[in-house]
Amino acid sequence: MSGEIVEAQGLSKLYRKGRLDVPALRLATLSVQRGEFVTIMGPSGSGKSTLLYMLGCLVQPTGGVYRLEGRDVTRLRGDEVAQVRCSRIGFVFQSFHLLPGLSAQRNVELPSLYKGRTRFERRERARKLLERVGLGGRLGHRPGELSGGEAQRVAIARALMNDPVLILADEPTGNLDSVTGREIVALLRQLSEEERAVVMVTHDAEIAGHWTDRVLHMRDGVLMEG
Ligand SMILES: Nc1ncnc2c1ncn2[C@@H]1O[C@H](COP(=O)(O)OP(=O)(O)OP(=O)(O)O)[C@@H](O)[C@H]1O
Ligand SMILES: [Mg+2]
Repeated sequence: MSGEIVEAQGLSKLYRKGRLDVPALRLATLSVQRGEFVTIMGPSGSGKSTLLYMLGCLVQPTGGVYRLEGRDVTRLRGDEVAQVRCSRIGFVFQSFHLLPGLSAQRNVELPSLYKGRTRFERRERARKLLERVGLGGRLGHRPGELSGGEAQRVAIARALMNDPVLILADEPTGNLDSVTGREIVALLRQLSEEERAVVMVTHDAEIAGHWTDRVLHMRDGVLMEG
């Protein structure tokens, strides 16, 4: 198994807004290895989410090549991209993005609905993942009945449902107090140490410096190492 999970070369994104061209990402080159935890920092509007969503195959580049586990995902058909995204990538967002009407366990089960597992297997896996993130006692709680930190743990368990190689987190601590934020980052750190890679956007320099292997900086769409 190759150690390289992300290999991106010269990735660009130009958004067209009427007559205005917004170069959100300019020739970003980046590689991330299995086991690595990388952070992206930079001012608002510098292109961090654009890059992260591109790594998650949610945003198509307008230029460059992106290989995920050695496979050029910029050349895949829409349904193939969806398949890669669903099976290889897990997402964690600032505002959790849980479905409010469903229990924690049901939220965690959701990504596997299309994966051919039996209902029992799905429930069991969701339960184990919730236990793993420390929420064995909250299976039946709905998002509105959870604290922010608990909701983010549910979102992380959901991201793990299909056993991804790459976890992408866009300001996962942005809605949490600093102690809870650190716990969430410690959990992401553990996940990166298990044959996965984690790429996280954060505004918190202390978290980036202390918990992650490498800090990348973005400014005006340009990605810089160190
Ligand atoms: N769908 C879109 N259409 C047009 N322009 C967009 C679109 N998405 C982002 N942009 C522009 O691209 C640039 C980068 O946006 P992006 O969301 O990647 O920034 P960011 O670094 O994540 O900022 P923040 O820290 O505020 O989340 C911004 O100038 C934004 O206005
Ligand atoms: Mg953003």
